[in-house]
Amino acid sequence: MGDFRRRVASSRFARAAALPTRIRVVGRHDLGVLTDSARWLTRSREHTNFTYDLQPLNREHLSWWVAGVADVPVDEVRSYVRELEEDDDLVRHVRTMTQESDRRGLADSEVRFGRRLGWYALVRATRPNHVVETGTDKGLGSVVLAAALLRNGTGRLTTIDVNAESGYLVTDRYAGVVERRLGDSLALLGEESSPVDLFLHDSLHTRAHELAELAAVEPRLAPGALVLSDNAHATDALMTWAEQRGRSFSYWQERPDRHWYPGCGIGLAR
Ligand SMILES: C[S@@+](CC[C@H](N)C(=O)[O-])C[C@H]1O[C@@H](n2cnc3c(N)ncnc32)[C@H](O)[C@@H]1O
Repeated sequence: MGDFRRRVASSRFARAAALPTRIRVVGRHDLGVLTDSARWLTRSREHTNFTYDLQPLNREHLSWWVAGVADVPVDEVRSYVRELEEDDDLVRHVRTMTQESDRRGLADSEVRFGRRLGWYALVRATRPNHVVETGTDKGLGSVVLAAALLRNGTGRLTTIDVNAESGYLVTDRYAGVVERRLGDSLALLGEESSPVDLFLHDSLHTRAHELAELAAVEPRLAPGALVLSDNAHATDALMTWAEQRGRSFSYWQERPDRHWYPGCGIGLAR
């Protein structure tokens, strides 16, 4: 740095002098978000529970994260991720059921799994007997989890939702390994006693409800069970619960590719 620049940098005019650079940096970022937003507003039909692909590096981070938590080689996880991305039957199924549904006007025809790639890889890598998902919505997560269980050749999924119109994707061969339960997750989790090997909170995303679901499912958790939250980017519920129980907690942050949404993540306690 020259003498003059050094003097400006240490003076009270430094911030003003750096303004053009600062505007350029933040402007480039904001323009990217605006471009993605404009593309989404004109091309997508979704108004909630958005779908997108992952950024390539983020997808690679996901494989390493799953490899670490499931204690399997990263190449194995990469093969699971590819397996789902190349599952043409599942993509066709989601597309067909979407076109036949009453909500087709609010769903995109392109099928994108985002962080569900991680759910899939975790089920493939750990081969749970019983998966419980709270929050079915259309059933995209449910069919992804079902596809993993079908490939495993063992295991079943229970998916819970209060909305009677949820789960329209859960049909055909996927329905064969899925039990859909209609009602409040807290009531239904407490009603049953069958052991749970992998639990996924993805229903009402408030801290209180998430904690209440964790308390309700806790007595049913099998030894070594994985507990996942789709809300760990927004609350500390799972990490607090994990710490109080002497469980480990880790988190992977999702980064959507060419989408304005900043992404969720996968919180995991074991
Ligand atoms: C984010 S969506 C679920 C997304 C889904 N898991 C997926 O992979 O696309 C949340 C769902 O939770 C449901 N829900 C909200 N409150 C609930 C409750 N108390 N019990 C059960 N389901 C609830 C909503 O009806 C909604 O369909």
